[in-house]
Amino acid sequence: LARGPVAPDLAGRHVVVSAGGTREPLDPVRYLGNRSSGKQGYALAATAAARGARVTLVAANSALPDPAGVDLVRVGTAVQLREAVLKAAADADAVVMAAAVADFRPASYATGKIKKRDGEEPPTVVLVRNPDVLAEVSADPARPGQVVVGFAAETDDVLANGRAKLRRKGCDLLVVNEVGETRTFGSSANEAVVLAADGTETPVPYGPKEDLADTVWDLVAERLTGG
Ligand code: CTP
Ligand code: CA
Repeated sequence: LARGPVAPDLAGRHVVVSAGGTREPLDPVRYLGNRSSGKQGYALAATAAARGARVTLVAANSALPDPAGVDLVRVGTAVQLREAVLKAAADADAVVMAAAVADFRPASYATGKIKKRDGEEPPTVVLVRNPDVLAEVSADPARPGQVVVGFAAETDDVLANGRAKLRRKGCDLLVVNEVGETRTFGSSANEAVVLAADGTETPVPYGPKEDLADTVWDLVAERLTGG
C-alpha cells in the first residue's frame, strides 16, 4: 500500500509511545511474559515521526528493528516501563500506551535458578500487583492538556467493557480490539473501535497497523490545544 507524503501536523510536539510486552523475572533464567510483538506500538512511533513529532518509544522486549528518527528507550519489567514512561511524559503532549504491561509480578526474585527436587512439592509462585501506568499518567495533574491513549483487548461485551475501562483508567482515548475466535463487533469488519472520553466512537476497519496508528494520531491531533 503506497503511503504518500503526510502533513507534518505533529511538528513541534513530543509524543511518548510504549510498545511490546513486559517480562517479570522469576529467577535468572525465567520470566512471566506475554505474546505482544510490539508491532502496533512501533507503527504508532513511525507514523508519529512521519507526521513531524519528536517521538520517545519505550520498548519492552521487542525484537523489531529500531525505527528511524525516534528516541528508543529499552525496558524489561513493568516497573522499569513505568519509570521510563513517567520520565518521558513530563514534557510530552501525548502518551500512547500500546505496551502489554503485566498486571502482576512475582513477589520475590530467586537470585539462584529454581531447582526441582524428587519428592518435593512444586513451588508456588506468589504474585503482587504492578503499578497501573496508564491510570497514573491519566491522573497526573501536572500536564492538564496532555492527551493520553490506552489500548484494550476485550472479549464478550467488548464495547461495554471498553467504555467501563475508559472511565476507570481516566484516559482521553481507548483503542478497543475484540479478541477470540470470532472478531465481529456486531457484524461489521472493524478491527478496532476508538472510544473517546467525550463519548465519540470511531470504528477502524480491518487493515494495516499503520492505518490504525494514523487514526489514533488524527484523534490525538484534534484534541491537542495551543501550539
Ligand atoms: N496498562 C498499564 N499498566 C498496567 C496494566 C495496563 O499502563 N499495569 C495499560 C496498557 O498499556 C493498556 C491499558 O492499560 O494501554 C489497558 O490494559 P488492560 O490490560 O486492558 O487493562 P487492565 O486495567 O489491566 O484490565 P484487565 O484486568 O482487563 O487486564
Ligand atoms: Ca491487564
